[in-house]
Amino acid sequence: MDIISLVKSRLGDTYDLHRRYINPQFVRVLQVIGFDRNYTSAKGAWLKDKKGAEVLDFLAGFGVFNIGRNHPLVARVLHDMLDSDPASMVQMDVGTISGLLAEALASLAPGDLEAVFFTNSGAEGVEAALKFARQATRRSKVVYCNHAFHGLTLGALSVNGNEEFRGRNEPLLPDCIPVPFNDPEALEAALSGGDVAAFIVEPIQGKGVFIPDDDYLPRARRLCDEYGTILIADEVQTGFGRTGRMFAVNHWDVVPDILVLSKALSGGYIPLGAIISKRAIHSKVFDSMDRCFAHSNTFGQNDFAMAAGLATLHVLEQENLVERSARMGDYIKKGLEELAGGYELIRDVRGKGLMIGIQFGEPRSYTLKAGWKLLHKINADIFCQMITMPLLAKHHVLTQVAGHGLDTVKILPPLIIDKSDADYFLEAMDQVLKEAHSFPGSAWTTVTELGIRTAKSA
Ligand SMILES: Cc1ncc(COP(=O)(O)O)c(C=O)c1O
Repeated sequence: MDIISLVKSRLGDTYDLHRRYINPQFVRVLQVIGFDRNYTSAKGAWLKDKKGAEVLDFLAGFGVFNIGRNHPLVARVLHDMLDSDPASMVQMDVGTISGLLAEALASLAPGDLEAVFFTNSGAEGVEAALKFARQATRRSKVVYCNHAFHGLTLGALSVNGNEEFRGRNEPLLPDCIPVPFNDPEALEAALSGGDVAAFIVEPIQGKGVFIPDDDYLPRARRLCDEYGTILIADEVQTGFGRTGRMFAVNHWDVVPDILVLSKALSGGYIPLGAIISKRAIHSKVFDSMDRCFAHSNTFGQNDFAMAAGLATLHVLEQENLVERSARMGDYIKKGLEELAGGYELIRDVRGKGLMIGIQFGEPRSYTLKAGWKLLHKINADIFCQMITMPLLAKHHVLTQVAGHGLDTVKILPPLIIDKSDADYFLEAMDQVLKEAHSFPGSAWTTVTELGIRTAKSA
């Protein structure tokens, strides 16, 4: 079998295959917004499409490619593993390489977190963390935040603060209580009964890039200690240097009881995640030989994922990517803030490291304000396409809308980007913002038509 020739020979069928066998509605969306470019290869921060055009990837697979796409060191390690015929997933034994990755993760994790459970995804890690917390405390209640995103399996969805995902799935897990993010008083009110198993929180919320006040997470830590609640930090997206520190909790010197990780851990090659718990929690779950499989999975410790994980951690360290994320993030944020000074549609630029949200809001000038209001009346979710669509179509930069109804564009570049990549993005943003500030104009016409079309196309 020649897989490369096979894929090449069927390139023209990509969208038909997806329409027919996978997700036709997603194909419609891609085609409507012009994101159907059929990418064929990638290296570092750049994708190449089937026409040979290069695209700057400021999405990084939703934060998977922190070390850049197709990193040669991880590729070499995986080739070595393939050539070594490893005894992967024997299941009724344990492997050396999973021990090594667990050791490496425990040494990176804050405080005394050391007991590792490997997963295949972020949501699976959240499920495991919720189960561990319930078993360790013998309580059932879980407190979570409005706007939180922890994945889409049923347990994770029960602590997801976004109605568009929860809808049509109810009733979800009982005893899951939402509180506003960044509100320690509301958190205390929810925990003060002393009957809550866990408080689960993203240190920086991914949907919208919301950063808490500096005292929020330290206070949450103290409240969890006071009321015997397990603090779960979901760092599936913020982990491994994304926010300019190895883990986002490091910004506030907070040590959670359970840290949930995934996304960037395997360099984007193989599904992989991990939760790292305090030993006392782990010991309460796995408290006898009978219960050695109290929680388990089939693929979690597969040798190829473990090897990719070890190689990725090596690259993060060797290339100083955590420090680079902080430095490049500051550079881009400063550039965006300068743009915000000249473009009234930008209301706020927020972020840490290379997780940055650009918040748009109603402008002051009369005609632009009228355009904003009209567009939001037609479709409250469409404005950001006026930024992301031309960024890709005209300037070859891939970005995303941060969530429903937020008017926020989010960037998650690979941590390997350099100043020229950042300048390329800032120059593209400048051009796109210039067009968006010309009302009436073709940018507004295009997005208004799109808003009407998508509102109608049930
Ligand atoms: C903070 C957070 N938690 C959990 C998840 C779910 O991860 P996965 O899609 O791998 O299940 C995500 C995914 O975007 C996430 O950002």
